[in-house]
Amino acid sequence: MLNTEAIAGPDTRHAMLARVHRYTGIVMAERKWTLLHGRLRRRVQELQLQSYDEYLAVLDRSKDEVARFIDLVTTNETSFFRTARVWQYLTDDFFPAWYGSNAGKTMNIWSAAASTGEEAYSLAMTAEEFRLKHRDFTYRIVATDIAQGVLDVGTAGIYRGRNAEGLKSSRRDMLEKYFELQDNAYRALPELRNNIAFRQHNLYQGLGGPDRFDLVLLRNVLIYFDETGQEAVVESVRRSMAPNAVLVIGESESLHRIRSGLVFQQPLIYRNSAPAT
Ligand SMILES: C[S@@+](CC[C@H](N)C(=O)[O-])C[C@H]1O[C@@H](n2cnc3c(N)ncnc32)[C@H](O)[C@@H]1O
Repeated sequence: MLNTEAIAGPDTRHAMLARVHRYTGIVMAERKWTLLHGRLRRRVQELQLQSYDEYLAVLDRSKDEVARFIDLVTTNETSFFRTARVWQYLTDDFFPAWYGSNAGKTMNIWSAAASTGEEAYSLAMTAEEFRLKHRDFTYRIVATDIAQGVLDVGTAGIYRGRNAEGLKSSRRDMLEKYFELQDNAYRALPELRNNIAFRQHNLYQGLGGPDRFDLVLLRNVLIYFDETGQEAVVESVRRSMAPNAVLVIGESESLHRIRSGLVFQQPLIYRNSAPAT
């Protein structure tokens, strides 16, 4: 068993925590070292390294290891239909209002920091339910995350364990309608999967692409950044939004301390007020 003190002195711990920030923008204070070590310990052992200085050297020479590191250090907790009032707002207010003033257009949706995809599939189910009432409605969802491992889960669309059970107990109708049972797991039907494109993306970089989004969900990720990071990320996301588009943030997040061209609508919901740039 590796001894914590022996494998990472204060400077090395500091360097490791700084790597988290460099690669992801996530701020981890010195007191989070134990958490970080807990997440990386097994990987360091697998590589048969004797210290974190050796691991830092591996990170310097291997992009694959950096990707592995990002998978391990990020917190990927998520769930289907997380925060009920957001889904109520989308169903009752956002979808009908958007459809009313955008006839014939395709709704562009971005699930940013999507983790394993439960949020993107919840969006697709909400859109499919709306389409049942408005047959000409079309939508496209882009789901992004910095960690590749979680995106692989989202792309496969196969869920088991806690999150599948959560959907079963909260929205059994949705599970039965939009998933099929395969080898003791639930797989999203192609009608959902075909409308979601998963891709790797760091929120500190612009997303690019030709389309502006009508709706962006950026939830439970800003909490990991400092104010400077939050401001940079929100501005970069805003630049990908259509004029008047809506941004949804997480329950424990707020934009009131940062400068942005977004206007508060109601708790968790902001609207892009800035003209297209
Ligand atoms: C707690 S999960 C939130 C998932 C989902 N948005 C939700 O609210 O349920 C946070 C996600 O943010 C991702 N993340 C962290 N830093 C990121 C960055 N700089 N760019 C993109 N994604 C990032 C993590 O990999 C993780 O999957």
